[in-house]
Amino acid sequence: MKAAVVDHRGGVPEYRDVDDPNPVEGQALLRVEAVPVENVDRAIVAGTHYTAAPFQAALPAVPCFDGVGRTADGTLVGFGGIEPPHGALAEYVVVPEGHWAPIPDGIEPSTAATLATAITGMSMKTAAGLQPGETVLVQGATGVAGRLAVQIARLLGAGRIVATGRDAAALASLADLGADAVIDTSVSDDDLVRAYRDAAGDGYDVVVDFLWGRPTRMLCEALIPETFAIGKPVRLVQVGEAAGDAFELPARAVRTSGLEIYGAARNLMAGMADAYAQVVEWVRSGELVIDVTTMPLSRIAEAWQRTDLRGSRLVIVPD
Ligand SMILES: NC(=O)c1ccc[n+]([C@@H]2O[C@H](COP(=O)([O-])OP(=O)(O)OC[C@H]3O[C@@H](n4cnc5c(N)ncnc54)[C@H](OP(=O)(O)O)[C@@H]3O)[C@@H](O)[C@H]2O)c1
Repeated sequence: MKAAVVDHRGGVPEYRDVDDPNPVEGQALLRVEAVPVENVDRAIVAGTHYTAAPFQAALPAVPCFDGVGRTADGTLVGFGGIEPPHGALAEYVVVPEGHWAPIPDGIEPSTAATLATAITGMSMKTAAGLQPGETVLVQGATGVAGRLAVQIARLLGAGRIVATGRDAAALASLADLGADAVIDTSVSDDDLVRAYRDAAGDGYDVVVDFLWGRPTRMLCEALIPETFAIGKPVRLVQVGEAAGDAFELPARAVRTSGLEIYGAARNLMAGMADAYAQVVEWVRSGELVIDVTTMPLSRIAEAWQRTDLRGSRLVIVPD
């Protein structure tokens, strides 16, 4: 079969022949229909992600480890559970029992392949318990996950939505998705702290954070009360690290600011079924729009190196 193979750390996947996979008992052979290429996949290939070691040890290897495929009887399923060197960027994958689930009717394979990213937006409810009327700040709102999170905040009944990004045109487009105010994070530190304070209204209740790094460092600074007052709770959900994987957190940003930090995984398994069903319902009704750009597996080298797909998820499909 054909697959996209990476030969060395940081390499560009090459479309070429590999051995056909042979499922054994307890495994299923799926024909791959759609595979999302996300930042985490690029970081694993680059060797910069904390989960990159097994992939790097298995080189040459096929990247990406989840997607959408068809079983022998034609059922469309979402799959995961595959391990290096056998990634999803291939014509077929062998998936262990229990690592696939049917895709609901009415969802296209390429859209189905992006549902996991949409689910991250649901962390404002599953991890942070968002209530209707609360104020939500989406950090990194011009990206794929962030644009979905802005829409999800609106659909969940947020009272005010503030969205951050670096590109003026992309930020302007967020009003159509439901943002009430936007913040350009590319300004100076002092200006950014002021912008977070000015846009907060009655204060942020929930922050969905795809950035971390400098913008979140400045947000923490902005949350510090300027008097001896005690700040109201701000439930920050850590989801991504597009702006950096670490920053220095001053004690004063925690002591009285109200800042509470949760991982996106908090309550995720307990809330997953409901979150998934809700996202599927919104996608089917057209209330939640997922921007997808598809390219065929044979053009993986070109697709992998694209840098122009801001806000749109690259999904690799069969030729
Ligand atoms: N935990 C999960 O399950 C999960 C799922 C999906 C994504 N994520 C993570 O969430 C993050 C965003 O994912 P995505 O798919 O939305 O990526 P994306 O489409 O590439 O978007 C990245 C976002 O971060 C911004 N950004 C990038 N570098 C920045 C910097 N140095 N300073 C300030 N802003 C910066 C981008 O702004 P511009 O538009 O200006 O470039 C954009 O808003 C990634 O870290 C990803 O790994 C996690």
